[in-house]
Amino acid sequence: MKASLLIALLAVVSASAHAGAGAAAQKAEVCAACHGADFNTPISADIPRLAGQYPDYLARALTDYKSGARKNALMNGQAEGLSAQDITELSAYIGALPSSLIVIPLHRFIR
Ligand code: HEC
Repeated sequence: MKASLLIALLAVVSASAHAGAGAAAQKAEVCAACHGADFNTPISADIPRLAGQYPDYLARALTDYKSGARKNALMNGQAEGLSAQDITELSAYIGALPSSLIVIPLHRFIR
């Protein structure tokens, strides 16, 4: 009896922990199927790396896929069910992930 009550309580606690910071991670699980669990190792070369990308760039891309302004059969389908808040949360989450992409400032080459 006591053990089952404890298990039930633990389930409630972990469910509410997921609702906060974990919510975006949970929403991103479906995306990870193609973009990679770390968003840095996509499953094929024609799928972009997203980890560490500017959140406003990600949000713009997702908003354009949703509206149809940017066309891609896979991503139009992925974005159509996202709310504006989903897009904001996913973009912040993915943009904060560690990235292997680097930007080399142009002035190092052009003087
Ligand atoms: C079925 C595979 C698949 C899934 C699932 C998927 N994507 Fe994509 N994603 C792609 C492909 C392919 C592209 C490149 C499309 C293009 O050329 O416009 C892409 C492009 C993107 C881009 C644009 C990147 C850029 O550099 O412009 C963003 C942002 C993005 N995906 C976010 C997501 C998010 C967020 C999810 C989950 C809601 C998701 N994707 C789920 C395959 C997928």
